[in-house]
Amino acid sequence: MKIINFGSLNVDYVYRLDHIVKPGETLASSEMQVNPGGKGSNQSVALKRAGADVWHAGMLGEDTAWMRERLEREGVDVRHVLISKEIHGGHAIIQVDANGQNSIVLFGGANQAISAAQVEHVLMNAEQGDWLVLQNEINVTADVMVAGKAAGMKVCFNPAPFDEGVFNYPLDCVDLFILNEHEAAGLARKPVETAPEELVATLSAAYPNAMICVTLGEAGSVLWTAATGLIRQKAYPVQAVDTTAAGDTFTGYFLAELTRGASLAAALDMASRASAIAVTRPGALDSIPYLQELKA
Ligand code: RIB
Repeated sequence: MKIINFGSLNVDYVYRLDHIVKPGETLASSEMQVNPGGKGSNQSVALKRAGADVWHAGMLGEDTAWMRERLEREGVDVRHVLISKEIHGGHAIIQVDANGQNSIVLFGGANQAISAAQVEHVLMNAEQGDWLVLQNEINVTADVMVAGKAAGMKVCFNPAPFDEGVFNYPLDCVDLFILNEHEAAGLARKPVETAPEELVATLSAAYPNAMICVTLGEAGSVLWTAATGLIRQKAYPVQAVDTTAAGDTFTGYFLAELTRGASLAAALDMASRASAIAVTRPGALDSIPYLQELKA
């Protein structure tokens, strides 16, 4: 059983500031870094560092081609990471404030130029029971979802960043939703202040065949499945330095543990531990811990 993650690859330009820039304001940053990132590639690396067999599929530009080697060095299978000669690679401009909170501007670039032929070529490798991992940063998410499901794959969908376009996706194909509070509220069409239990109740009524996992930052996470009802997981308290990729780390660890045969509660606990470590470190992909660190 393998995991195919068809997802974004970004280079992150990270600026450290006292606070996130307000409209009309100009601020000097104390530090600037160029880091590997992208929700897709972060999740592939989290899956791999958690011990899973993961293939990444996606598109880079020549300017971001170094990301392919980086993922390969991590042990991710990159045979389906293509490099466009015409389009700039995806990138993100990330502001990180003194409390480690961030704000992100995305440029999709090559992530938004994936062809139907590439989708078909990647999905030819799908086998019954394989998992497909998707986020919302590439242009072919809906097509991949349909093709993956038709090939007998199980679908894990992290609808991030959330937008109304998500409602046009064939969401009945999804076996596992992983969402933060904003994404859960968006998908449930409720205000973000809505209690997590109410969000989960709405989502479970809409998608009764899916597992629904909602991460709640310092309040931990909740998971609903038809078989178990609601399971709660605490967060591990840490001093946050940079929350970028915390959700990606959670997704990778949760799915890796689940596919290894861990119980839902154990998978949640490992995901919670891993994301707690990730927020104590700067960067996106670079902040993701290795399995040995969690065991230690
Ligand atoms: O989830 C964090 C990621 O979101 C960053 O690495 C950035 O590239 C954006 O995709």
